[in-house]
Amino acid sequence: MSYLQKQFPILDTKCLAKDIHELVVSCPEIASQAIAGQFVNIRTSHTLRRPISICGIDAEKGTIRLVVKAQGKGTDEICRMRPGDTIDLLGPLGNGFDVKNSNLKAVVVGGGIGAAPMYGVASVYGKNCAAILGFRDSADVILEKDFQALGCELLICTDNGTRGFHGFTTQMLENYLKENHVDIIHTCGPKPMMKGVKDIAEKYGVRCQISMDERMACGIGACLGCACKTKKEDGSSTYSHVCKHGPVFEAQQLDFD
Ligand SMILES: Cc1cc2nc3c(=O)[nH]c(=O)nc-3n(C[C@H](O)[C@H](O)[C@H](O)COP(=O)(O)OP(=O)(O)OC[C@H]3O[C@@H](n4cnc5c(N)ncnc54)[C@H](O)[C@@H]3O)c2cc1C
Ligand code: FES
Repeated sequence: MSYLQKQFPILDTKCLAKDIHELVVSCPEIASQAIAGQFVNIRTSHTLRRPISICGIDAEKGTIRLVVKAQGKGTDEICRMRPGDTIDLLGPLGNGFDVKNSNLKAVVVGGGIGAAPMYGVASVYGKNCAAILGFRDSADVILEKDFQALGCELLICTDNGTRGFHGFTTQMLENYLKENHVDIIHTCGPKPMMKGVKDIAEKYGVRCQISMDERMACGIGACLGCACKTKKEDGSSTYSHVCKHGPVFEAQQLDFD
């Protein structure tokens, strides 16, 4: 794994929904080697860096897109950054999703801010992808036009029925799998959603990759701060570092119970 740490200029920022901001950062060194599902660890004025997924990669322009939800002091600070500011990134980090075969029929399932890393995955598959995105309310929907522009099938779900399907992404996923052949599922979102996606993928015999969200510190496997219980091939339990061995795991490696 090769990564670097540097200050990079922010070219553009945009508010996507309440407390959710997008940043476009010029960082050719990261954009040229990043893959969907990897992340950058961002320095703020607070002690630990904050991990944020690489949402979009434009290797030609040398830019990456980050979509950040203000959830505390670190992410608040990142959301206040503006064009002309610089941002201290360490990355690209983590393993990323297996998107080597873009001819496969893929489904991405994103819950809330988990829609952001799913955009990077969907942009690899394009028309071969169905994106199932879940939000609490219509006001929380993000990246809709971006997913549409990829040509993928977009299925929006809201918990309160104010947009799209009234219900959870897991219900929509099961409906979709009943009617369509799918080779691979990629998902990121709240843990209960990812557990549900794992169970459904198992039921329908579809390979499933899950991006785990754990609190992190170093981001490079040095501090043991992001341990997550995983299963070895023989079924016995072990612990993995989400930052180094993940954040993406095959569903059968994870033990949500
Ligand atoms: C691999 C990875 C990719 C991520 N990608 C994104 C992304 O693309 N966009 C985005 O907005 N966020 C993303 N996150 C989550 C983000 O890193 C956390 O929200 C952030 O670190 C919180 O820092 P803070 O200083 O704002 O919050 P703090 O002030 O430290 O905490 C505020 C609240 O958030 C909770 N919290 C802190 N860290 C996490 C965490 N990792 N997961 C869940 N809850 C947490 C705390 O328990 C507390 O309740 C990602 C996390 C990981 C591990
Ligand atoms: S965050 Fe330090 S080992 Fe993962």
